[in-house]
Amino acid sequence: MANSKQKKRLTVTDFVKMKSSGEKITMLTAYDFPTASMLDSAGVDMLLVGDSLAMVVQGHENTIPVTLDEMIYHGEMVSRASKRAFVVVDIPFPVNHHGVHEAVKAAGRIMKETSCQAVKLEGGADQADVIRAMVNAGIPVIAHVGLRPQAVHAMGGYKVQRDRDEILADATAAQEAGAFCVLVECVPAEIAKELTETLRVPTIGIGAGVDCDGQVLVINDMLGMTSGYVPSFVKAYANVQEQISTAVGEWCEDVKERKFPDDEHSF
Ligand code: KIV
Repeated sequence: MANSKQKKRLTVTDFVKMKSSGEKITMLTAYDFPTASMLDSAGVDMLLVGDSLAMVVQGHENTIPVTLDEMIYHGEMVSRASKRAFVVVDIPFPVNHHGVHEAVKAAGRIMKETSCQAVKLEGGADQADVIRAMVNAGIPVIAHVGLRPQAVHAMGGYKVQRDRDEILADATAAQEAGAFCVLVECVPAEIAKELTETLRVPTIGIGAGVDCDGQVLVINDMLGMTSGYVPSFVKAYANVQEQISTAVGEWCEDVKERKFPDDEHSF
């Protein structure tokens, strides 16, 4: 895996090369400096400052409430922490629906104020003009197709998306508008496979099977650090919630029983 040893920051051209060489792309979400720093050192290729922060950091029911200023606040910390990973910041709802001018202005603010390397927006064919304008402004764009969590109410919930023609049309329109990568969420594995074979640009899947060019998960979900609902496509690689709860419980007990601080931890 040549790329995980690479010290300098990954670029859009590295991801295109990874697609052609068959090396899978790893992407995880990050929302703060220490987490981003750990994920960067661990060799994650892309860090996504996802609008999922509305749910996993702010405790909202969906991704709709998070604001542009809040995305910038978290994006700046993540960018500053990462040395090698390519940092992507989500455009929050409904900024990319405010017309091309407002959308480019918002993406420009994100790039200037966070020092990230790209933005991600939800949409495909309907967002082609916005994607094209951002790319013309020199802003790399990832398009997010399939399940679009910002449209949860219109889509009738977080459901698997099975309209093959629509998914392919959205992803192709995004690619033709200049998106350098397409994130595909909650679609049957065979549709994601066909999409990955059809597109020139890499696909990154979440709940989209093994054949995408890369995989993304929400960091809190994959570390077992989520108090709410966890989608069935998530595999937890740790149970950090349990570890925190055990450690904090022990500390509370030690304090109550006057075992902490002991001599070793006192002056
Ligand atoms: O906001 C986010 O974390 C995302 C993931 C679901 C990929 O878009």
